[in-house]
Amino acid sequence: MIEFKNVSKKYKNGTHALENVNLKVEDGEFVYIMGPTGSGKSTLIKLLDGEEVPTGGSVIVNNVNVGRLRKSKVYLYRRKIGVVFQDYRLLPEKTVFENVAYALEVLDMPGDKIKKRTREVLKLVDLADKSNVKPRELSGGQQQRVAIARAIAKRPAILIADEPTGNLDPSMTDEMITLLEKINREEKTTLLVVTHNDVMVEYHPKRTIRIDSGHIVNDGTHGERFYKQNFGEVKKPQEENKEEKVEVVSETPVQEEEAHTEHIPTEREVQDQKIEEINQTLESIEEIKGGDGI
Ligand SMILES: Nc1ncnc2c1ncn2[C@@H]1O[C@H](COP(=O)(O)OP(=O)(O)OP(=O)(O)O)[C@@H](O)[C@H]1O
Ligand SMILES: [Mg+2]
Repeated sequence: MIEFKNVSKKYKNGTHALENVNLKVEDGEFVYIMGPTGSGKSTLIKLLDGEEVPTGGSVIVNNVNVGRLRKSKVYLYRRKIGVVFQDYRLLPEKTVFENVAYALEVLDMPGDKIKKRTREVLKLVDLADKSNVKPRELSGGQQQRVAIARAIAKRPAILIADEPTGNLDPSMTDEMITLLEKINREEKTTLLVVTHNDVMVEYHPKRTIRIDSGHIVNDGTHGERFYKQNFGEVKKPQEENKEEKVEVVSETPVQEEEAHTEHIPTEREVQDQKIEEINQTLESIEEIKGGDGI
């Protein structure tokens, strides 16, 4: 379960991004987070994945007080959380299969298990036939699906997607949300989806948390009326409870631990670093080629 208890976040420049936010999300729920630009949505996500620490209150995820995790434990905690960023940067020199497998290699999973799980998630996102293709040969929507496959490969208890339909046309948007629903249903993953897409929320109504100026201003199922008028009965939200899957972080609260204050690199930053290294290698190869007149 995710719980925000009186959470406030004031950035160093004095911006109050969130103020006294109280929120509970049960295991297996599918929740939209909506709100105008600058309202605090990404801040909420950053508090959840331990990238930022609250300046007031506490963020508790499956009994772990995230803001008070020791720096050395943040990466273990992050194994429970999959995040798909809007600029889903994939490793350009790796194939689709390798991009997904890489997320498991860093967990030191045995090779045969990595292959099995990678095949499984690529099938889930309907990209099994693109396994050996490089990201640049894929459409935007397909690349986004690779990013989702990569995020769910480690079986996170929670998947957070920041604007997953931002760059997609209406039919792709519908496919994307259907895929996220499938992940929620089949992998029993709790879904938090940040979106500005009203149409998506109307056609696939779910609990919607609306944030404005750092406050939750509404929390309920949006779009029911529209859905009922057009499609009959509203789909029931996921009620199935999920079992704990990743046992890497202790179940006992860790309130006593010292909060980390340094910035801990996110998965994306680690991947960006990797891309940077690849680019530097390519540049030096170019230089050598140029220098030798090859
Ligand atoms: N690292 C930071 N330092 C200082 N202020 C920040 C920082 N990150 C965000 N803010 C400020 O906090 C507020 C909330 O930002 P946040 O990124 O959470 O908004 P958002 O709802 O995700 O917006 P968008 O829809 O544009 O992505 C904004 O006023 C923003 O300028
Ligand atoms: Mg944002």
